[in-house]
Amino acid sequence: MIADPVSPSGAVAADPARDAAARQVAAWSGRPDAPVVRSFFDRATFTATHVVHDPATRQAAVVDSVLDYDPASGRTGHLSALAVLDYLRAEGLQVAWHLETHVHADHLSAAPWLQHQTGGALAIGAEIVRVQQVFGKIFNEGTEFARDGSQFDRLFTDGETFRLGAIDAIALHVPGHTPADMAFVIGDAAFIGDTLFMPDYGTARADFPGGDARMLYRSTRRLLSLPDATRLFLCHDYGAPGRPDFAWETTVGAERAGNIHVHDGVAEDSFVAMRTTRDAALDLPRLIMPSVQVNMRGGHLPPPESNGTRYIKIPLDTL
Ligand SMILES: [Fe+2]
Repeated sequence: MIADPVSPSGAVAADPARDAAARQVAAWSGRPDAPVVRSFFDRATFTATHVVHDPATRQAAVVDSVLDYDPASGRTGHLSALAVLDYLRAEGLQVAWHLETHVHADHLSAAPWLQHQTGGALAIGAEIVRVQQVFGKIFNEGTEFARDGSQFDRLFTDGETFRLGAIDAIALHVPGHTPADMAFVIGDAAFIGDTLFMPDYGTARADFPGGDARMLYRSTRRLLSLPDATRLFLCHDYGAPGRPDFAWETTVGAERAGNIHVHDGVAEDSFVAMRTTRDAALDLPRLIMPSVQVNMRGGHLPPPESNGTRYIKIPLDTL
């Protein structure tokens, strides 16, 4: 847990999980056998899916995959996931993990579909149970919907370590955008979901149920206490003025120097004021209703009704 990692002065207090992650990054930085990352950008939802692998063992993890979804017709599709699958097969990679950084509200996860093709374990943060409780209520799910995270093969807690082939990895709990967000630090590469975005775009919103701008600030400072050379891989990019194309990779050093919301020197209170004001003006994501109903089930579609058809619910005047 991160009880209070940031002192009033903005200095980050001692934190064993962060220190372990920092040591791990330092050990892997610049090594020829550091993890290889290939990213796939879905322009429909501005989502980056990352495939990270250990070049020595060819073991891979897929982070935040995308199931295509057309809200007008209710049709799902697998073109985005197929591009990932083609790459995995062409490279001869063996998938050990399907990692979800959080319950996404803007795209549906393709993890179960990919897992069916490739094997590997589906994992998310242990705090998923809080998200399942909140949204289970909002969508008036019956008892068929388990709120214990059992839809996943592994629930990571803060500071838990794991391996990708021969590469050390550590899971960090980085709440704020949602209460359950995780960052996965694999070698010197950190997959940070919706926390920091590119330096010229800033940070993720913190106004969903269970979100908290103050917590988000502390999570971003915690990530930025990793070594400057840490490679950061983001879940989204929406472009920014003066930048010709989408981008999803940066470094801790670049974020500390230039993130427009949380560069070094930005105080917690001013971040919270900025984030809260900005969030109040944002519309909800276009796909929040289908995304949450599917992703809180580990990416499985809701069960079919008596006529064999699966449905997405839309609660009126609730969100
Ligand atoms: Fe998100």
